[in-house]
Amino acid sequence: MKVSVVIPAAGQGKRMEANKNKQFLLLDSKPILAHTITIFESSSSIDEIILVAESEELDYCQSEIIHKYNFNKVSKIVEGGATRQESVYNGLKGVAEDTDFILIHDGARPLLTNELIEHIITEVEKYQAVAIGVPVKDTIKIINQDKVIVDTPKRDNLIAIQTPQAFRRDLILEAYQRACEDDYLGTDSSSLVERLNKEVRVIEGSYENLKITTPEDLELAERIISRRLV
Ligand code: CTP
Ligand code: MG
Repeated sequence: MKVSVVIPAAGQGKRMEANKNKQFLLLDSKPILAHTITIFESSSSIDEIILVAESEELDYCQSEIIHKYNFNKVSKIVEGGATRQESVYNGLKGVAEDTDFILIHDGARPLLTNELIEHIITEVEKYQAVAIGVPVKDTIKIINQDKVIVDTPKRDNLIAIQTPQAFRRDLILEAYQRACEDDYLGTDSSSLVERLNKEVRVIEGSYENLKITTPEDLELAERIISRRLV
């Protein structure tokens, strides 16, 4: 069985308000993106890594991330697109043809554990489409355009979805192709599979598997990493 991972890292990191792509910011003296790649590089269940980067950052990724940290499993760095969906699709097209399952994982989630990778791979072999999620802690409201609350969904039914999300190769390729044909833009990979009326299972993620989005996330990630190092 062959497993590939696509890592979209072609965003701009606008909400981080740093003077560069947030994925190159340092976390425990190492770029966030290098932490993310290390997790998959060290996993014996992962065969190849496809990194998706912004056109102007391809060379930087090659020299300052892949070469510098000696990553051997990165088989390709492909150019990203204007949206995460487009970036992931470009990455998917670069996956080896004999791959059975594909994991998609945000470059900006450097705190994923090997245990979760193993768990999602076991589940995707059984269910073909699996996403990681955690119960939401806050009460979520639906508002209208005037910012008036129109609904309060029951919290028990709400999950905050994370990555990795894992799929059988042909299923996820079909989902991205169909979304492209239909001009459908979703916020995650799972939603593209859901619209084909295929079941996507959710397994328990971790509150520590944060996506570094704003400066507070980086502070929290530093604390989590230093605790793990003890
Ligand atoms: N991403 C990507 N291509 C894009 C947009 C996002 O590959 N066109 C990647 C990001 O690099 C990130 C992941 O998708 O690893 C999740 O996106 P997000 O956290 O929103 O990152 P950014 O889009 O970079 O941040 P922001 O939305 O604050 O600008
Ligand atoms: Mg974004």
